[in-house]
Order: sequence, then structure tokens, then C-alpha cells
Amino acid sequence: MAVTYQINTAISPEQFIELLNKCGLGARRPIDNYYVIKGMLDNADLLITAWSDKRTVKEVVSEATDGNPKELIGVARCVSDFSYCCYLSELAVAENYHRQGIGKLMIKKIEQQLPPSCQIILLSAPQASDAVNKTSYPKIGFAKHDNAWVKVVS
Ligand SMILES: CC(C)(COP(=O)(O)OP(=O)(O)OC[C@H]1O[C@@H](n2cnc3c(N)ncnc32)[C@H](O)[C@@H]1OP(=O)(O)O)[C@@H](O)C(=O)NCCC(=O)NCCS
Repeated sequence: MAVTYQINTAISPEQFIELLNKCGLGARRPIDNYYVIKGMLDNADLLITAWSDKRTVKEVVSEATDGNPKELIGVARCVSDFSYCCYLSELAVAENYHRQGIGKLMIKKIEQQLPPSCQIILLSAPQASDAVNKTSYPKIGFAKHDNAWVKVVS
């Protein structure tokens, strides 16, 4: 399977929602509010996408496909000042592509867009298992912080 990565290629709210559902993040993002999802995409500062090439050999040879023949299998959506901090709001990989290094590579792509010393901030899912928190994030270079605070605008 060939996976390609793109930087700041626009995706539709429908594509984003489909991927959020495919990775399990749909339950924790406002997928029923099209305008919020659209705003998340329109106003993102950095969007890394991962695509699986699903074309048949025949299609590749004949270049017969139009539009985008690839399946969206990963998204890393960031809000950043490209100087001090970068909030990685969604790191999402379709479930059937987990544990193949796609999440790790998307983070690498983010790092390549940022200056040295810039901090990448990620909030892990509250229900992520201890095993995931203890193994997954440290493995991709994140250090846990106990002093993070979140306020939701009412
Ligand atoms: C988190 C997520 C993006 C990881 O994507 P992925 O492509 O499967 O991750 P990778 O294959 O790049 O794995 C990165 C490292 O984490 C480890 N890892 C990934 N998933 C793990 C799991 N469930 N348990 C333990 N370790 C795990 C891998 O072993 C790997 O390290 P290694 O290659 O050195 O062994 C993916 O699981 C996902 O989409 N989860 C649901 C959404 C979510 O919770 N996102 C984060 C908050 S926004």
C-alpha cells in the first residue's frame, strides 16, 4: 500500500467527518455541526493529510481517474503561530491503518513546518487507556504535563 502525505491540501467537511468517524474521534468532535467543522478546516494553520492510493493498476496505467482517486486515511490539524506553539487539535488515523507509523510520520511533517524550540501541544482523549498514554505518546516524542487547563467558552 502506498501512502502519500500532503501539506495544506484542502479537504471537505464531509471528508473530515468521515475520517473522524473512522478513527473513533467522531464521538469527541462536533461532527453534527457542519459549520463548526467547516470553520475548523477553513481556519486551520496547518493541515497534514495522509492518503492511501486505492487506484487499480489499470487506472494508474491509463491515468483514467479524475478528481482525487485516493482515500483519506489520516489528518493532523494544527492551530499555530509558527513561532512559539502549535496546538495539534486532531491527530487522526483511520482505524484499519493504525500501528503502521502514519501518526508518527504526520507529526514528523508538522515538525518540519515549525522552527526549533516551538512546542507542539496535544490533548489526549480522556478515555485513552493508560497503556496508550504511557506507550504511544512518549514514543512519538511527547512529554506529559499535569498542569494543563482547559476552558470552554459558554
Ligand atoms: C493516536 C493515533 C493517531 C496514532 O496513529 P497511528 O498511525 O496508529 O500511530 P503510529 O503507528 O505512528 O504509532 C506511533 C507510536 O505509538 C505506538 N502506538 C500507537 N498506537 C498504540 C496503542 N494503541 N497502544 C500502544 N502503543 C501505540 C506505536 O507503537 C508507535 O511507536 P513505535 O512505532 O515506536 O512502536 C491513532 O491511534 C488514532 O487515530 N487514535 C484515535 C484518535 C486520537 O485519540 N487522537 C489523539 C488525540 S487528538
